[in-house]
Amino acid sequence: PWQGEYADVVSPICLRGDDGRPEALVIGRTPLMNRHHALAALDAAVEAYGQGSGYWPRLSVEERIGHVESFLVAMREQREAVVELLMWEIGKSYNDSCKEFDRTCDYIAHTIHELKELERRSNRFELVGGVVAQIRRLPVGVALCMGPFNYPLNETFTTLIPALIMGNTVVFKPAKYGVLLIGPLLKAFQESFPPGVINIIFGRGRDTVGPLMESGKVDMFAFIGTHRGASALKQMHPKPHRLKAVLGLDANNPGIVMPDAELDAAVHECVTGALSFNGQRCTALKLLFVHESVADTFVEKLAVAVDELASGMPWDPDVKLTPLPEPGKTLYLSSLVDDAVAGGARICNRNGGEVHGTYFHPAVLYPVSAAMRVYREEQFGPVIPVVRYSDISEVIDHVRQSDFGQQLSIFGSDPEQVAHLVDVLANQVGRINLNAQCQRGPDTLPFNGRKDSAEGTLSVTDALRVFSIRTTVATKAT
Ligand code: G3H
Repeated sequence: PWQGEYADVVSPICLRGDDGRPEALVIGRTPLMNRHHALAALDAAVEAYGQGSGYWPRLSVEERIGHVESFLVAMREQREAVVELLMWEIGKSYNDSCKEFDRTCDYIAHTIHELKELERRSNRFELVGGVVAQIRRLPVGVALCMGPFNYPLNETFTTLIPALIMGNTVVFKPAKYGVLLIGPLLKAFQESFPPGVINIIFGRGRDTVGPLMESGKVDMFAFIGTHRGASALKQMHPKPHRLKAVLGLDANNPGIVMPDAELDAAVHECVTGALSFNGQRCTALKLLFVHESVADTFVEKLAVAVDELASGMPWDPDVKLTPLPEPGKTLYLSSLVDDAVAGGARICNRNGGEVHGTYFHPAVLYPVSAAMRVYREEQFGPVIPVVRYSDISEVIDHVRQSDFGQQLSIFGSDPEQVAHLVDVLANQVGRINLNAQCQRGPDTLPFNGRKDSAEGTLSVTDALRVFSIRTTVATKAT
């Protein structure tokens, strides 16, 4: 048991006190580790890796798969406890929490399957150009894995599991919010992996992650969060050029509604694309560009669809909109809305932008212009800005000039025009969705981005490659 200090974990779900006012609800506590604890965890990972000669990296792939399989079995037993914590810690709805848990288990199962396939094709001897070559796939070293609060399980495990299964040893720092849910999994980690292979640290990032980077002992950095955070951490490493990184960063995904789009279907996709988990997804639609000939009608329909969404507590199966876990988030969103309104946009839906404690009622803003903050900043919350465009070149310019390039969606029914737009924009983003919202899944598809949105690609197969390096042993053929 932990002997040091603890930090309280506060739920975004406020209960009413005796006086009827909302009271912050402490739902648990986590160890408040400092640099010494973090560095001790890192040293354990370094020792277990043993410069590639430790027990874990030297195990056969089949043996490591065996460890991950037993982890998966033990993890599945914790479904109820983890789903409960997802609801209480980050306010994720019951259905979405179940989906996140099941999707993570599926991801692990897929990873095992893919690695078996990869292994079947690897480590063969090949005669090429007078050389007998054996290409070995080896781990990178010691990996630091950090996940985000919005998918504290799924996004985190999409780096953690490939890192482990490929023979790396890991220091894992759970997300800032969504940290208690690691508790029910601790036993599974402990019983499924040898000591030193996975080392979990809790506490403030500046006290723990900074010292790990400064030590120069981290070989691989897997991070899902902001571009600014990732750059700052990378620069703390004494030799950042030697740090292998896989990063999922900011995004400002646009949706483009063409004049001939099927409006009802587009509205449906845009509402779920923008507001699932209250818009707190890096893949959410963040800015809608709608052709002027259909913009007014589109916004009317959008406002009606948003008004139909039920808000409330995450455990109610009909509820789509829930409290926000980040302190100060409602203030930030209000400031974006106020700025847009001051610049001439209207709030088009009922009660848009109202705040009740940690709950922010979604706001449809229209017409939004490039001068407004909400046009440039990633709101990462339930605010839907709609921009009217008259010529598609305005949208193309926006996409090309944006610092971000994760995904975009195109809604239109003329196959030729859609195909042309796809050709023009394909080199700007990691994924284009046609008549569909942006999303990461299925997790077997490449998940990446251009510009400041990502570094490296994470899909089930890509991740296995990202967390390994190939070394060729070449013998001159005689
Ligand atoms: O926040 C980014 C997540 O990877 C989004 O995943 O698009 O499946 O919700 P999703």
